[in-house]
Amino acid sequence: MIGRLNHVAIVVADLAAAASTYRDVLGAQVSAPADLPEHGVTTVFVVLPNTKIELLAPLGANSPIARFLQANPSGGMHHVCYEVADILAARDRLKAAGARVLGDGEPKTGAHGKPVLFLHPKDFCGTLVELEQA
Ligand code: CO
Repeated sequence: MIGRLNHVAIVVADLAAAASTYRDVLGAQVSAPADLPEHGVTTVFVVLPNTKIELLAPLGANSPIARFLQANPSGGMHHVCYEVADILAARDRLKAAGARVLGDGEPKTGAHGKPVLFLHPKDFCGTLVELEQA
């Protein structure tokens, strides 16, 4: 059911420093920062030949990644994002299999303007999983 690895997301404390690390030290192509107020994050995408890295920094007082950063002050891997062809079919299949879909179970618009859902890390090897309809 899952297809390509769309991106790996890394929470960072300092987005400019992280973007500089990927651009200047690792020599990668790095996007400009984009604020996503409805998700409480600012993102920078690092474009690699076979996938992307999503650098995430908290935006606003109620950012969902603020607690992650408190627990991991130097940042760390936050989630992996797999592509699916039909997000509602994927959700229904996962729920039928007993997996927990986070939030109200309805897809939201993700960082690429496409529908996304998040799955409970305890059901997926301790890793937060994002599904994106590609
Ligand atoms: Co993501």
